[in-house]
Parts: sequence; structure tokens; C-alpha cells
Amino acid sequence: MAASEFAEWVRHFETERDRRAAGPDPSWESGARLAPAVQASIRRFQLGEDGDGADLIAKADAAGDPHYAAAVRLFEDEEHNHARLLARLLEAGGATTLTGHWSDTVFGRLRRSAGLRAELLLLMVAEVVALRYYRALRDGTDDPLTSEVARRILADEERHVPFHCARLRTSIAELPRGARRPLLAGWRLLLLGAGLVVAADHGRALRRLGVGRGRFVVDVTRSAGPVVAAILGTHPPRVPGEAAEPAAAAPPALSRRR
Ligand SMILES: [Fe+2]
Ligand SMILES: [Fe+2]
Repeated sequence: MAASEFAEWVRHFETERDRRAAGPDPSWESGARLAPAVQASIRRFQLGEDGDGADLIAKADAAGDPHYAAAVRLFEDEEHNHARLLARLLEAGGATTLTGHWSDTVFGRLRRSAGLRAELLLLMVAEVVALRYYRALRDGTDDPLTSEVARRILADEERHVPFHCARLRTSIAELPRGARRPLLAGWRLLLLGAGLVVAADHGRALRRLGVGRGRFVVDVTRSAGPVVAAILGTHPPRVPGEAAEPAAAAPPALSRRR
């Protein structure tokens, strides 16, 4: 992929950053009514959003494309903002944040031990699961503040997936042709496993939000197709500046649902 494409991503992330800075925060003062299961679930996702990203930034720096490295920093800023938004939401609901959980420790260690390509594949699992989770939170809660926070985060996550697809497309193309599909088949299995773990772990919250465990796993698994197609180059990832294209032209998991 040409470096200029990531220059476009930098501009796009910067535009989003400026738009965020110019607009107001959600109305925290209105408070949030969080059902216990949903509150516990949000606490876990808040922790998951709350990494420093230094490891990915270092790998992006080492990849040698300054535009990509700059875009990764802006991407990490958005993830930090998600952690902030969820922390404020929990505070508005009278809850505190978690300080640690074994699953985040394991996921963090795996990511740190991986190279850029493997880290992005792991990160993509989390992003695709997050897409379905925040959609459930946005649409299934009856609390306006929760829905607003989920809407803002979801809008960002919907850009993160094609952003990672764009870099993975280059990384996967560097592999021998025969290794690409088996690797992505393994990624699909990993995604299925993650979907099952989240469905089991957050099942009560998901049910409260109107999404059964089975539905959640099926939806997460179905998201894999467009992602794999974008990485293999059989379908292009949506890139900044293509908003004018008909929505139907974008793969479902990569399109915006604002
Ligand atoms: Fe996030
Ligand atoms: Fe994300």
C-alpha cells in the first residue's frame, strides 16, 4: 500500500479529532441508569479500551512509514478517548472502573509478544467483537447517556476496522500466497473463540440489551467475511474520502451505521 494512503488516514483521523474537540461531551450531569449486569459488562470493556498503545506505536514506527506511524498515534488517541468516555459513563452511573482483569493481562501479553502483523490480527479480533458489542449497547439500552456514549464509540470503531484492514492487506501480501488463506482461516477461528468467550462472559448484559448469546456469536462470526475480503484485496477496505460512494458498495461490516 502506498504511504500516501496512510497520509489520507492521518487527515481523516485529524478531522475526526478536530470535530470531537469542537463538539460538547455527552451530558454527564444527566446521570446514567445502568442495570447491574450492563454496568459490570461496561466496566470490563472500559478496562479493555484503557491500554497505553506504546507497543503498537513502537511497531508502527519500526515499520518505516511515517504516515502510518502518525495514523496509529491518532488511532490510539481515539481508543484512549473510549476509555475516558466509558469511565465517565460509569461515574455518571455511580460505578467505579476496574484496575485489572486476567483476560486483559493475557491479551496484552499476547499483543506485546507479537510482531506488527500478528498484533494487528489480534487487535482486529477485539475491534470486530467491539463493533457488535457497542451496537448492542447503543440500540439495546433504555438509558440515553449510555446510548450516546456507545454511538460515539461505535462510530470510531467502524473506522478502525478498515484502517487495520488497510495495513494488514500489505502485511498479508508479504506472505507466500499459499499461507495467506490458512492464516486468515485461523484468524476466523480466533474470532469465533473470542465471540464465544465474550458471549459467555457478558451473556447477562447482552440478554438485557436484547441480544442472545447465540445471536451475538453468529453476528460476530459473520463479520469476518468482509474483513477477510478486505485484507486479501478481493474487496477494498473503505478508505477516507470515499463517503460519497453508495453505502451498498461497502462490505456490511466495514460500512458506517450512524
Ligand atoms: Fe475502542
Ligand atoms: Fe477500536
